[in-house]
Amino acid sequence: MPTVLITGASRGIGLEFVRQYAADGWKVIALCRNPATATDLAAVSGEVHIATIDVDDLASVNAAAAALADTAIDLLINNAGINVRGATFADVDYDGWLRNLDTNILGPMRVAQAFLPAIEKGAGKKLVYISSKMGSISDNTGGGMIYRSSKTGLNMAASCLAIELAPKQITSLMFHPGHVQTDMGGDAAPVTAHDSVSGMRQVIASASMAQNGQFFNYDGAALPW
Ligand SMILES: NC(=O)c1ccc[n+]([C@@H]2O[C@H](COP(=O)([O-])OP(=O)(O)OC[C@H]3O[C@@H](n4cnc5c(N)ncnc54)[C@H](OP(=O)(O)O)[C@@H]3O)[C@@H](O)[C@H]2O)c1
Repeated sequence: MPTVLITGASRGIGLEFVRQYAADGWKVIALCRNPATATDLAAVSGEVHIATIDVDDLASVNAAAAALADTAIDLLINNAGINVRGATFADVDYDGWLRNLDTNILGPMRVAQAFLPAIEKGAGKKLVYISSKMGSISDNTGGGMIYRSSKTGLNMAASCLAIELAPKQITSLMFHPGHVQTDMGGDAAPVTAHDSVSGMRQVIASASMAQNGQFFNYDGAALPW
């Protein structure tokens, strides 16, 4: 069975990816900041290997990749992310903004760079980013400047990398997972983690180089940049 690596696996969308791929018999490498407190993750049955990563920390990312140097990864899902909610522009939290850019843009790039040899070794050769339609400039309704700009930046970085990795036959995909019932999305969100993840899994499974660098809703609809 193929191997999937998932960041931000302790809860929310990342945990649901772990549950669904493990239930389907995949080998799952579930990376989270603090395995000791990730009790829901520890309870997932199947072939789940839990290890530590903090995507803000290059040494942590490189250590995780070095520990898995012999592993071939078919699918890497850059899921870890944060949402630093700003008050108003007049009140903007610049430290929080930089933190949001660091986690949501540089984090996935650190992970992609460190694990690229493992992806090249895998047969699947797929690199997925959980972005957000809040990063879409053409679909902008305002507000959330800090988080929106982090996901716009992620989309551009991921798009550049998709072009760079195309000669290696690596398919890169960006997703809006929907407004999902998680700690980030809130209990009143309209989409369950189950439906979001099963939708994205279908799109990922059917994607080929023809979809490289594209931005999808969780149900497979193309999204505007
Ligand atoms: N929920 C939504 O409605 C929604 C909508 C659009 C996009 N998204 C995106 O979907 C992804 C998952 O969101 P979610 O709703 O599942 O959020 P969540 O419930 O808040 O979970 C976020 C996950 O990311 C991890 N994480 C945060 N910073 C990290 C770091 N520096 N290093 C490693 N892991 C880190 C968290 O780990 P800890 O447990 O250690 O904090 C947690 O596992 C994010 O990229 C988010 O922006 C979500």
